[in-house]
Amino acid sequence: MSNGSAALQDIKTLKNVKTLRKDAWWVEPLLTFAVLFSFVVYATFRAFEDNYYYVAPYLSPFYSPCLVDTCAHVSWRIFGKMWLITPAMLILWIPGGFRMTCYYYRKAYYRSWWLSPPACAVRDGHTTYTGETRFPLLIQNIHRYFFYFATVILLFLWWDAFEAIHFPDGYGVGVGTLVLTLNATLLSLYSLSCHSCRHLCGGHLDSFSKNPGQYGVWKTLTKLNERHMLFAWVSLIWVALSDLYVRLLATGMIHDIRIF
Ligand code: FES
Repeated sequence: MSNGSAALQDIKTLKNVKTLRKDAWWVEPLLTFAVLFSFVVYATFRAFEDNYYYVAPYLSPFYSPCLVDTCAHVSWRIFGKMWLITPAMLILWIPGGFRMTCYYYRKAYYRSWWLSPPACAVRDGHTTYTGETRFPLLIQNIHRYFFYFATVILLFLWWDAFEAIHFPDGYGVGVGTLVLTLNATLLSLYSLSCHSCRHLCGGHLDSFSKNPGQYGVWKTLTKLNERHMLFAWVSLIWVALSDLYVRLLATGMIHDIRIF
């Protein structure tokens, strides 16, 4: 076969196959899909359950801040009795929207859910590609606003971690205190490593030399930003485990261990 016809054959092959990759490229999108899907199912179940989210002094992060008068533990009384809407539904759209529009998660679910494309050098699952240039994906640009809202939620979670030392019989530390404190810490690392946070804290500057203070902050956040994917996964899994821990305590299936 001449060089020309061999090249033609190669092009025809490329048109007919999904990918020429021989490695297990599908493992990562499959795992991503499995973890995200499990999280969404669990979080949805908990949002509707409207129970077992508080056992003194621990408040589940899925129900914090609790803004309804009828909450098992009111963080801030804003709403009276509500029908059909649980206290979790009032606030979960904020961390949910923050993660949905996150630059890292976009890559994760574009690949694993929408197969667009499923992996590098693998054919797109769709015939057309419009990117984020028009509705509905254009809406991803509101990520920075979710960052602002999520920061407020984070302050409440730190308050909950602080409150988690205030037991009915006095001050102390239990396993739940550590669970909620680690949860607030991991979520803080996730937020501080956010691209929008990095932009806000120094990335928008035209001249670093004129703003050495902000440059220092930007450099620190850049180091965190390099680990954003790690913080995204660890904080996601831990927030679900924190809620599960409170739920298991509230249902009486396990008992908290008081460290001191
Ligand atoms: S880029 Fe991931 S939270 Fe902002």
